[in-house]
Amino acid sequence: MATREIKWWHRASVYQIYPLSFQDSNGDGIGDIPGIISRLDHLKNLGVDVIWLSPVFQSPMKDNGYDVSDYRDVHPWFGTKNDLKKLIEEVHRRGMKIISDIVLNHTSDQHPWFIDALKRVDSPYRDYYIFRKKINDIQSVFSGPAWTKVPHRDEYYFHFFAKEQPDLNWQNPNLRKELYAILNEWLAFGFDGFRLDVIDLIGKDIDKGLIGHGPFYHAFLKELKDNVLKDANLFTVGELSGSSAEQAAAVTGAPEGTFSMAFQFSHLWLDEQLGKGKWALKRLDLLDLKNTFEHLHSVYEKQGWNALFMGNHDQPRPVSRYGSKYHRYHSQTMLQLAFYGQLGTPFIYQGEEIGMVNYPFKSINEMKDVESLNYYQDQLGKQPVRSIMQSLLAKGRDHARTPMQWSSKSYAGFSTKKPWLPVHPQYRFINVETDAHSKHSIQQFLKQFLRLRKQHDVFINGKLKFRSFHPSIYAYIRENDKESIMIISSFSSRKISLKIEDIQDWEVLLSNHPTLTLQSLTPIPPYFGVMLKKRNKHAND
Ligand code: NOJ
Repeated sequence: MATREIKWWHRASVYQIYPLSFQDSNGDGIGDIPGIISRLDHLKNLGVDVIWLSPVFQSPMKDNGYDVSDYRDVHPWFGTKNDLKKLIEEVHRRGMKIISDIVLNHTSDQHPWFIDALKRVDSPYRDYYIFRKKINDIQSVFSGPAWTKVPHRDEYYFHFFAKEQPDLNWQNPNLRKELYAILNEWLAFGFDGFRLDVIDLIGKDIDKGLIGHGPFYHAFLKELKDNVLKDANLFTVGELSGSSAEQAAAVTGAPEGTFSMAFQFSHLWLDEQLGKGKWALKRLDLLDLKNTFEHLHSVYEKQGWNALFMGNHDQPRPVSRYGSKYHRYHSQTMLQLAFYGQLGTPFIYQGEEIGMVNYPFKSINEMKDVESLNYYQDQLGKQPVRSIMQSLLAKGRDHARTPMQWSSKSYAGFSTKKPWLPVHPQYRFINVETDAHSKHSIQQFLKQFLRLRKQHDVFINGKLKFRSFHPSIYAYIRENDKESIMIISSFSSRKISLKIEDIQDWEVLLSNHPTLTLQSLTPIPPYFGVMLKKRNKHAND
């Protein structure tokens, strides 16, 4: 493995805040910035280094803030620009950093640019968007055609997401200049970097049907770097939903790449039927997960840096997806080991530190997410409601967006009023306060893990070798000149009668069954997870 110069963000861990659902401070049932400030000590205590703030900008909230109508101002639901300034200061005062989500691929249809572009054909903003008289059959990610007709005109505009999210035309140099100015203003305001939403779509060539990783992508990234992201100390993570591992690695590892790191999606495709999209469900085969990460590693070992994530505001809850709600503590903690011990910076999504689980939605009427609602409408009549709901219950984005569960008080301590999305019915058992005092505390485990990860550079520069103990066990060794660490995680809800041989030379650093010794490790309990370190021979001599 090429020697990697260690940068501060290799050792860091990141926590994602979804502001609508994190903490309400003014009793309107919607999370806000003062609420976030009141919870910063929780994050500091976990050992988090960087906070990723999902968008707090002005927005009609068709896609919960990923449809921006003013990049320069804060949505009043969240507070004011002064509140945001204070949040940044308070984060910095605690020795953490904070990055802003920024959506540069599209705006809201309520953005003044788009409103003007629709109003007059001679608008200077017309070319900021993509209008065509002749259209192709590209489909939107949120169901239905990606083209919508302009009212009273014989033309269409392009939107890869909802029809209220028109795509920007990055080929217009004035638009690019405006976007760079906005980004630089936010850096001057105090943000330490950005999470760049679907940034690998900006180089699209719509007429050729090329969207992800399009022909202009690299030129635009270079310009973005030269004009905005030149300070190598910035923390930047690109969301590369349409890129292969190789393509993602090539643009990360700043200063060589444009971004510090990237979210690459190949592991998210494993529980869907190939090429049929996220709603076509398939059972995850653990071997596929292993092969996917093995490949990712082989690529990242040569170049770039990965962002390790098992959930975020677009994904179901990891316990429900990969583990079991009946074994919450053990599945969430073994997942932390399995995912975060690999090559890359760990990203924790709010609620994962207490093992929050999917919401038991009973009907579409309880859901709010535009993607889910569009899918439901689009599929009605094409397949039975039961099977539509089956997909939504497995993959719907609202699972991740229900309010954060802080305590057993009403509305889980999130708000004093009925929140915008319902609180999970099990909040009295699953909440930060209860977890903190439990002998099975997920947050304590995470905290210990993050501390250990910081202490062992092998997580950053160690080679990764998978071990095949059993089809339900995900196991690998990280190894450099100085040390070897092994992670063993069982993805099974059953005991596995297996005796792992050749582990007598190892000692336990962290385990979700701390009373089990390596000698008593058979059968392997459900969702067992352990981190082992090879004994230093000399110390034993
Ligand atoms: C990716 C974001 O994570 C998601 O929430 C959003 O809907 C799409 N990009 C469109 O902005």
